[in-house]
Amino acid sequence: MDYELLIQTAKSMVATGRGILAIDESTPTCGKRLQSVGVENTESNRITYRNLLLGTPGLGDYISGAILYDETIRQSNSEGVTFPDLMQQQNIIIGIKVDTGAKEFALHPGEKITEGLDGLRDRLEEYKNFGAKFCKWRAVITIDNDRALPGRSCIEANAHALARYAALCQEANLVPIVEPEVLLDGSHSIDTCYQVTVETQRTVFEQLYRQDVLFEGVVLKPSMVLAGKGHDRQASVQEVAEQTIQCLQQTVPAAVPGVAFLSGGQTDEQATQHLNSMNRLARDMDLPWRLTFSYARALQHPALTTWKGDPGKIDAARKALLHRARLNSLASKGEYTDQMEQQQAA
Ligand code: 13P
Repeated sequence: MDYELLIQTAKSMVATGRGILAIDESTPTCGKRLQSVGVENTESNRITYRNLLLGTPGLGDYISGAILYDETIRQSNSEGVTFPDLMQQQNIIIGIKVDTGAKEFALHPGEKITEGLDGLRDRLEEYKNFGAKFCKWRAVITIDNDRALPGRSCIEANAHALARYAALCQEANLVPIVEPEVLLDGSHSIDTCYQVTVETQRTVFEQLYRQDVLFEGVVLKPSMVLAGKGHDRQASVQEVAEQTIQCLQQTVPAAVPGVAFLSGGQTDEQATQHLNSMNRLARDMDLPWRLTFSYARALQHPALTTWKGDPGKIDAARKALLHRARLNSLASKGEYTDQMEQQQAA
């Protein structure tokens, strides 16, 4: 295990003013996104869409790394440039999703366990040959007050799997993004989300520690602390920022270089505002980690809805993506304001 390489890669992923673009949707999930704008889920449309995103001039100014799906790391655009090469031209680090999805957790109705450990050591070697420098594995934790979820066994099983994945990645000198997502679905309060997120993240770091994972070579990708979508009182931006930072302080070792949040179904603006507000607070707090973004929906959404499959709209869609990436870059430094939403370059 090359400690220096892992530490250097993790630091570059969360470098000041840069964040991560997640475009690692599985083929069915990518299909849902495409179908939402009336585009058929064919391989050629997926290539066109991902080329639209990764071929955006200037993207590397704000995006440190992008997370690909297995299909994408092997594909080329219509000019014959492979996606890994396109990323390297933009100074964007190559990442790859390596879990094989969240499946029903046996004997635990309503809960999920993420799979993908079998054969992972060999798959990592293959991805390294395509230029991958980091990986991603997402665990899903569901809150359901009526069913007393999440159960302890779901948190423990997912944390154990995350640590096994992280150890395999580091053995191969790949930085693991460790993603325990507490879902936004449900009618729970922000206080319940706080409690569940603290318990989840504590258990995850306990398992990472037990399995000898190097904290300096990990990037945490958590959900923010938010009230459930169906809760009658949504928390203010300030409250979300305070509770999320407090949750990190209670759970994340100082040795971890950075935290790159997922957007989790927040609107584009909310995801930016929350990140910005946390980084404003962080100015007076001397926090040990960088706080940045690793958004899929909240970065892709403006590009997707501008493009809608129209070849004539590719430039406009790229501008929309670059604008959103720039705003999130500013938010990762606490320098975003709401007025900037209107300032997209013509
Ligand atoms: P969202 O930002 O859309 O939540 O996706 C992030 C991600 O990578 C989910 O695994």
